[in-house]
Amino acid sequence: MVLKHGEQRNYHYDGRTHLKVGNTERLAQMISRYIDCDLRRILLAYPYSDDYEQTVQRNVREQDSDARPAIASPLPEVDHYDTVLLGSPIWKTSAHP
Ligand SMILES: Cc1cc2nc3c(=O)[nH]c(=O)nc-3n(C[C@H](O)[C@H](O)[C@H](O)COP(=O)(O)O)c2cc1C
Repeated sequence: MVLKHGEQRNYHYDGRTHLKVGNTERLAQMISRYIDCDLRRILLAYPYSDDYEQTVQRNVREQDSDARPAIASPLPEVDHYDTVLLGSPIWKTSAHP
């Protein structure tokens, strides 16, 4: 299993911006209780801003251009898995690019 996008930012709730465990990771943890799998978090090479509006603007640019933001660490071992489940938060009504 690969967990997409390790940003885990929370912009509007309770003043807590950086979450130790976000919703996507929580869901991945729940799935891992039922199937034998490895969990991986994908970290972006250039993290999003702590500012919500800047994050929205960057995300709009990336989605409109069908961007594939660079990731900090490649996952070469992914070739050895039979099945990869890719988790992602929903940003602007779509899976995060
Ligand atoms: C820039 C941005 C755009 C978002 N757009 C949507 C959306 O269109 N629909 C939605 O239901 N939630 C949207 N959300 C909320 C995220 O899907 C929600 O916070 C999600 O649980 C984040 O997952 P994470 O905790 O794994 O990062 C958005 C959040 C951000 C930061």
